[in-house]
Amino acid sequence: MSSQIYINGQFFAEDEAKISVFDHGLLYGDGVFEGIRIYGGNVFLHGEHIDRLYESAKVIRLEIPITKEEMVKAVEETVARNNIDDGYVRLVITRGAGSLGLDIRRTSNPQVIIIAATISLYPEEYYHEGLQLITASTIRNHPQALSPRIKSLNYLNNIMAKIEATDMGCIEALMMNHKGEVSECTGDNIFIIKDKIVKTPPTDAGILEGVTRNAVIKLAREAGYEMQETTLTRHDVYVADECFLTGTAAEVIPVVSIDGRQLGDGKPGPITHELLKLFQELTRSSV
Ligand SMILES: Cc1ncc(COP(=O)(O)O)c(C=O)c1O
Repeated sequence: MSSQIYINGQFFAEDEAKISVFDHGLLYGDGVFEGIRIYGGNVFLHGEHIDRLYESAKVIRLEIPITKEEMVKAVEETVARNNIDDGYVRLVITRGAGSLGLDIRRTSNPQVIIIAATISLYPEEYYHEGLQLITASTIRNHPQALSPRIKSLNYLNNIMAKIEATDMGCIEALMMNHKGEVSECTGDNIFIIKDKIVKTPPTDAGILEGVTRNAVIKLAREAGYEMQETTLTRHDVYVADECFLTGTAAEVIPVVSIDGRQLGDGKPGPITHELLKLFQELTRSSV
């Protein structure tokens, strides 16, 4: 059955859900987005995602034409109409149709689009065996050029690095920042564990401040682990005891090798397992 797509307060069948070819979202990647998980029909960490969406929009001077409360209701209605029990919802806000020039004063009507779908997860075996990563030669966007904290419609930076990963037979790539420090992966945040201390790069390392990342930081602290948001180098990652990635789609996924260096004993580690379990409990408790 065709899904029902929300555009500016109305629902359209997939084939009828259309926006202008002059929309600056299409012409320039000028807009913002969010991806949120649905567990048991509930929108997981809904408020956190909505806050990040409005913050991203504020930074690019895009005024979302509905309030946060209206957005929350629109998302819930889209999920209900599509009967999504376990799935994913994508929110897209574009700058709207304008001229072929860059001037945002010549655009009108930002488009609010909500798509609810079932999700294609990473294959189950990766959660048992762990991922192998490579480091991409493409660095993460310089924060003074396009801050990675903005979840913008311009994802070419990440796509370039993802191409490098898939060329090497990997599903994720580690990305450095402009200073040569570890930032994040193409669509996930990274954590390492060394001597039982859980570490992840800080928000000023040029990362998207992942909603899953923040939830896992809280879980790690509550579980009694020392948790550091600290600068990491490639060396730190190569000699880590354990490593895992976090993201809305991936949840918590173990990493067992990076650039051919095996981490620990080459199997997902015990603290990774514990945090994965705690995160799964959190998703279930939200239902
Ligand atoms: C570049 C990037 N980093 C990290 C993440 C993980 O963020 P979240 O946990 O909010 O999905 C994502 C996914 O949205 C991403 O695109």
